[in-house]
Amino acid sequence: MIIAIDGPAAAGKGTLARRIAETYGFHHLDTGLTYRATAKALLDAGLPLDDEAIAEGMARKVDLAGLDRTVLSRHEIGEAASKIAVMPSVRRALVEAQRRFAEKAPGTVLDGRDIGTVVCPGAPVKLYVTASAAVRAKRRHEEIVEAGGSANYDAIFEDVKRRDERDMGRTDSPLKPAEDAYLLDTSEMSIEAAFQTAKSIIDAALSRNA
Ligand code: C5P
Repeated sequence: MIIAIDGPAAAGKGTLARRIAETYGFHHLDTGLTYRATAKALLDAGLPLDDEAIAEGMARKVDLAGLDRTVLSRHEIGEAASKIAVMPSVRRALVEAQRRFAEKAPGTVLDGRDIGTVVCPGAPVKLYVTASAAVRAKRRHEEIVEAGGSANYDAIFEDVKRRDERDMGRTDSPLKPAEDAYLLDTSEMSIEAAFQTAKSIIDAALSRNA
């Protein structure tokens, strides 16, 4: 059983994916972390972000078992990740690793931008989690403030929009819902309500597969 969850930055798909994985005892992979780990390795080594061959080499070295969300969540790493994510050979390298992960028993939850369209097009459950840019910026802002940090809402809002443009506008694997994805707009929905909706879709798929 593979559950594919896609959507734009800060839509709440990570929280949802983790909760689903925990509920069903499935392995979870946040594929954004694979792009982030590649970008961080380049930044740490002082290497350029615009050399595709070098970036692909780094992508091939990423260890999926060693992805640390706390370290990789830094804003500048996310920016760098979305720059190298436009490179087809970087994507090919990471997609190969993600597909191997997706085959783990008893099941997997993968979240990202292209899981339902490219990485696992045959996944029996595909969710596209979204929310308006204003709501996503507000949630990210609250998250930072609650964690004791300081942040500027307008800057976050601009950032969310810029990331959307880059992710939706690229030629290779642009962010878009798969034709058979279930759309979950969480603009006016709590995470709990989104989870309950997702759960009923997954339960129906599990009983079809049983
Ligand atoms: O989801 P997260 O913000 O961690 O992703 C960082 C960047 O990695 C995204 O902005 C996107 O450009 C890229 N990404 C991608 N395909 C995925 C996951 C992430 O292109 N499946």
